[in-house]
Amino acid sequence: MEIVDTVKTSRLPGFYKLSLAERVAMVAEWAGLTDDEAAVLAGGGLTPAQADLMIENVLGTYALPLGVAANFRINGRDYLVPMTVEEPSVLAAVSHAAKLIRAGGGFMAESSEPVMIGQIQALDVPDMDAATRAIETHKAELMQLADACSRNIVKRGGGARDIEARPFPDTPVGPMLVIHLFYDTRDAMGANAINTAAEAIAPRVAELTGGRVNLRILSNLTDRRTATARCVIPAEALAQPDIPGHDVARLIAEANAFAVVDPYRAATHNKGIMNGVDAVCIATGNDWRAIEAGAHAYAARDGRYRALTDWWVDEDGDLAGEMTLPLAVGVVGGATKVHPTARVAMKILAVESAGELAQVMACVGLAQNLAAIKALATHGIQKGHMRLHARQVALAAGADEHQVQMIADQLVAEGNIRVERAREIIRN
Ligand code: MEV
Repeated sequence: MEIVDTVKTSRLPGFYKLSLAERVAMVAEWAGLTDDEAAVLAGGGLTPAQADLMIENVLGTYALPLGVAANFRINGRDYLVPMTVEEPSVLAAVSHAAKLIRAGGGFMAESSEPVMIGQIQALDVPDMDAATRAIETHKAELMQLADACSRNIVKRGGGARDIEARPFPDTPVGPMLVIHLFYDTRDAMGANAINTAAEAIAPRVAELTGGRVNLRILSNLTDRRTATARCVIPAEALAQPDIPGHDVARLIAEANAFAVVDPYRAATHNKGIMNGVDAVCIATGNDWRAIEAGAHAYAARDGRYRALTDWWVDEDGDLAGEMTLPLAVGVVGGATKVHPTARVAMKILAVESAGELAQVMACVGLAQNLAAIKALATHGIQKGHMRLHARQVALAAGADEHQVQMIADQLVAEGNIRVERAREIIRN
């Protein structure tokens, strides 16, 4: 199968119908992978010996499916987005949504400077106001101390950006002064850098506040390190055989409003967003727990947990969407470079900075959400889901790779997607 455009395009019609080997060959050509890199995709991956160097008490490795999402165009550039996820329909759904968004010119995305927050907890502070003033007047000195512990980051243009004192006069253990160190970690996720810097300035913080320092650790609510994705989808691109596009746009805006006002719905709505964001995090070797923690805390930043997205019908009757997420992800260090599959995934994605990676993740999250709420607001998700679920049921029943699709088709046709039925079909 040929790539459809002379310019490098992420539109890959019929990609899903290719065999696994054909897909690997096509993506290898698209991304300029070496034979060794393509071999990693085709079954190499992390060896037990490598895993043994990553964590403790290793017994082996645990594999998950890796796919690519198609159709992504972000700020005028096409991306194939590697995603690692065990849930059927995530990749199909996000690729479908990216295609709709492409009809409106693709995503616009931007990211803030990669500024992390380090927290230092000071207790037994004799005079909170005086301590706050002391931190304020010694900002420059504290920032110099923080910079001194990571020359590398400072050389690359990062380092301390600001210091802030946040008084909590009334806590279960008495008054507490929390000092925030804002620290630009450039292309690294930066957990080690910010934690080192927080530990380095802590003794001076204790002196300045006249108190005692307890915790020194980064915050996963990285609200100074965010990415924003936006898109506008022409209403006609949303049309269903039985629902006009303008109506679909309105139904989607209504679905979003549900998640804006009701935390019970917002949790599910945001889970759908994270289906996409986490999958890119995992594929690229980033810390998805950190991203999850940040996203959900950010969703509650106004005091009530709400949707991370906004979707509305614009003045032309088209569907507009926007989402900002805290995204502390890196393109250097950590598993991005250690895990062989993450390295290949990074090469496929070909982002040049942590900010660009964060932009891609925000777009994936927005698209994943669009796919979910469009399906929910129109025909529901169960029909599509059950078709894909049937394949897992067939696998669970012991079907081999040649039987899976045929058995799944039969389960769907019979409307009986159960492991026992799949076993019967295999036996017969
Ligand atoms: C399922 O993994 C995700 C959805 O529940 C998200 C949503 O409801 O918006 C479909």
